[in-house]
Amino acid sequence: MDTVTLTIDGRPITVVKGRTVLQAAIEAGISVPYYCYHPGISVDGSCRVCIVKIDKMPKLQTSCSTLCADGMVVHTGEPEVVEARAGVFELDIRLRPHGQAGPLASSLSAFSSYYQPDGLAWPFERQALVKLRAVAGCVALGGRIEALRDDWIYSDGEFDMAAMRAMRDRQVRQLVRAGTFNAKLSPGGLVDSEYLVQGWQLESGHRHPEVRTTNTLEAVDRLHTVGVLASQTWHTLRDAYVFQRCLIDALRVVRGDARDLTVPPRDSAEFVFLARRLELGGSPEGLAELIERHTSAVDALAANCDPSAA
Ligand code: FES
Repeated sequence: MDTVTLTIDGRPITVVKGRTVLQAAIEAGISVPYYCYHPGISVDGSCRVCIVKIDKMPKLQTSCSTLCADGMVVHTGEPEVVEARAGVFELDIRLRPHGQAGPLASSLSAFSSYYQPDGLAWPFERQALVKLRAVAGCVALGGRIEALRDDWIYSDGEFDMAAMRAMRDRQVRQLVRAGTFNAKLSPGGLVDSEYLVQGWQLESGHRHPEVRTTNTLEAVDRLHTVGVLASQTWHTLRDAYVFQRCLIDALRVVRGDARDLTVPPRDSAEFVFLARRLELGGSPEGLAELIERHTSAVDALAANCDPSAA
């Protein structure tokens, strides 16, 4: 049987020819994170969380799509590898009682006193509870917290539109670089779509329990089904949201970093690559036109629609 010998983190490792660096690391018990790799399906190589440094290669490489070669020297834990991986999937742990200053985990009573109607939570923190769902752990406790969430945010049908607009203004001022378009935070971006949908959910959730979902696309559809969203608004918002999600996913792949969602300049190679990634036939003009169309549609909705008047 043909074999190759390489070095991973200083350890000589011999594997069958045709193995990838990730497979060699797994076989040797060396931990390399991976997400889109699965031994039962073809290699996609899109998440980039498995990147490693390989001597004599100019850039970091995805280990799941790089074949082992004799004499290859691989490093899995160098600072530049760890830093690059950190941006691929980032967990935002600020949305919890007292934000960054609070403990990572709360007791049920501390959680309740923070979010209950006369608690310390800001309006935007209450709004974020629309996305709260139990994902693991004690099912009964998760159910109790979701029921409390419903009492706190869906019982009175009130949505503070002024607080939401003030929050958006602050986000744009503080987080968007002047002269750039941020797919998530710029006016007409993903956050405007999500905040509008959440506003309508909060405003109508007491009358229509079916709109109390944590999935934005599902919420858009249900808001239309129960008659809160007119057909044209539903179409506009749905199309824009699907596009915004695809754009952001493609940006993450192109950049290999989830933290920077600024769309590259339209005359750059990165923009052409982004258009190709979005399967627009490689047409940067097509991508520019789609960004323009959906952004102005969502911006107009955000300026003219007031969920609190629903
Ligand atoms: S596991 Fe996703 S690119 Fe390698």
